[in-house]
Amino acid sequence: MQTNTWGEGPLRYGGDYNPEQWPERVWREDVALMRRARVNLVTVGVFAWSRLEPAPGRYTFDWLDRALDLLHDNGVRVALATPTASPPPWFSLAHPDALPVTADGVRLHHGSRDTYCAAAPAYRSAARNIAAALADRYAHHPALALWHVHNEYGTTCHCEHAAAAFRRWLADRHGDLDGLNDAWATSFWSQHYTDWAQVTTPRATQYLANPGHLLDFRRFWSQTLLAAYTEQRDLLRAANPAVPVTTNYVLGDWVPVDHARWAAAVDLVAIDHYPSAVDGGAEEQTALAADLARGWARRGTGGDGWLLMESAPNQIHTAGRMHTKEPGRMLRHSLAHVARGSRGVLFFQWRAPAGGAERFHSALVPHAGPDSRVFREAVELGGLLERLDEVEGRVEAPVAVVRDAASGWALRHPGLPSGRVDHDAEVAATHRALWRAGYGCDVLAPGDRLDGHRLLVLPAVYLADAATVDWVREHVQAGGHLLVTYLSGVADSHGRVRLGGYPGAYRNLLGVRVEEFHPLADGERLPLTGGGTATVWSETVHLTGARPVTAYASGVLAGRPAVTRHDVGAATAWYVSTRPDEDTYRRLLTEAARAAGAMPTCPAAPPGVEAVRRRSDRGSWLFLLNHTDQPQQIPVSGVNLLTGDLFDNQPLAPNAAAILREP
Ligand code: GAL
Repeated sequence: MQTNTWGEGPLRYGGDYNPEQWPERVWREDVALMRRARVNLVTVGVFAWSRLEPAPGRYTFDWLDRALDLLHDNGVRVALATPTASPPPWFSLAHPDALPVTADGVRLHHGSRDTYCAAAPAYRSAARNIAAALADRYAHHPALALWHVHNEYGTTCHCEHAAAAFRRWLADRHGDLDGLNDAWATSFWSQHYTDWAQVTTPRATQYLANPGHLLDFRRFWSQTLLAAYTEQRDLLRAANPAVPVTTNYVLGDWVPVDHARWAAAVDLVAIDHYPSAVDGGAEEQTALAADLARGWARRGTGGDGWLLMESAPNQIHTAGRMHTKEPGRMLRHSLAHVARGSRGVLFFQWRAPAGGAERFHSALVPHAGPDSRVFREAVELGGLLERLDEVEGRVEAPVAVVRDAASGWALRHPGLPSGRVDHDAEVAATHRALWRAGYGCDVLAPGDRLDGHRLLVLPAVYLADAATVDWVREHVQAGGHLLVTYLSGVADSHGRVRLGGYPGAYRNLLGVRVEEFHPLADGERLPLTGGGTATVWSETVHLTGARPVTAYASGVLAGRPAVTRHDVGAATAWYVSTRPDEDTYRRLLTEAARAAGAMPTCPAAPPGVEAVRRRSDRGSWLFLLNHTDQPQQIPVSGVNLLTGDLFDNQPLAPNAAAILREP
């Protein structure tokens, strides 16, 4: 891995730029507008394969030469992409065996993007070839700042190449068929395998599929896609070791990628983020995505620096409808990422195309052209980002929330006691409650370095291997507080239930033993003693050392503990056997954080004002984002970097931001 220089220097600003979609006279306007907006980094070539290699082995780099030279002449640096997320039509016709096959056995065809099987040898070799040709030609181009491999790795496939690779991967993981049969509990429903040839990818089945099989299939794809990335990375690195290499992570429940495990393979963690909630929720989703990215960055390079590689300038994409961001929202979302460690703000995309599937996606230069609100806001943002060079240091975060990709996958399998439990939704609910209570949060993967975190939260972290159990125990033994929610630690790393009472992995630490589950119906709520309600889940909790904090107040569980606390040496281990309603969960997490000695970032910030602090040995900076449409009085002071003026215990304007250099 490189020690990258992304922690230093000016923030990067720009986005995806597609010169191949425009006549060259438009390029000249583009660079003039980029200069006006102070754009300093653009991603070029992401889906340009058919324009770079119109026939196998015949390269047409002349237009890219001219585009990169023009950008360089105008002071814009380039994240040069390998175009392997979109093979050209000639590729699919020449290699039909490399087209992806769905679980139903349907082979997909070109006409969109991402139409390949990443386990197919022909695809991998074509991808290496175009990456090598780009490396050969551009590795020393003065505009080149970063290699951007592929785009949003996340596809799976069920073809014969994939099945063969899956079998090899399984043999490696489980040693032999006995190991596989044991891990997948194949004695159930006559699934016992006696020959590797019998093992396929988890194709469509008559009834519930084997959960171990499904889980391993996701893990296999995470590693296969990582191998596809790594072989391109190595070619690019070999051509010029000074240029960092990355790929843009896509977040979403369909993505078979464990990004935490990829962190060490990239020189810089880069994420794409598109919030999907409109009313307030977009801010919380933004904060969570940025905290996730920082966790991955620390795991990889050890530093807090990462890069927001894509975001939408003026739209939030909700299901079936695009919501236009209100004035100021693009700025606040951008600063929320920068506050949490992003070394820049990049958008998808620079200029809105007239045609193609994403013709109505938002862009810095919209269909209306530069005489538009969004371009004026883009110019303003570019100017403001230039004032933030001095901001550095760690993000203040006394609480750590655990997110485990494999637990998320396992909880999406059929046959669970409730289809309403989702690990990522629990992570989001926990993060949202802490965000609303004003606590800085790190989002970490099991085993990550805990670094002075006062409180560790495990929200429905379903799987627990021995190392994770040790990691949690050591945190508590060192005096760190713990809060575990329902369905955490119930299964081992293969998804097999840990016997003897739930949650098998953490029973002793929590001082409870759960005997039975009582999942709740959609809309069903159980009152809790002390106020508030239980949603989604409830269970029969026996105390084996813990004390009750609240109890269920009606139904079959009336009088039985709902939330408990257990003193373990100097620490407290809380157990939450349900998903409390939002206010109750916020109060509970606040109580646990307080008991752990954690403080909110800016205790005086009113609701709706987001506060994030960065701190280094050279100073501290407080980001304040007013997400309300009212002025908000904030009793803090410091020089506001965005204006250069002293901010002194005064109202922050509606929908506005301030970044204070603290005295
Ligand atoms: C990203 C993708 C971009 C564009 C964008 C639209 O996931 O990388 O190419 O499709 O979504 O929101």
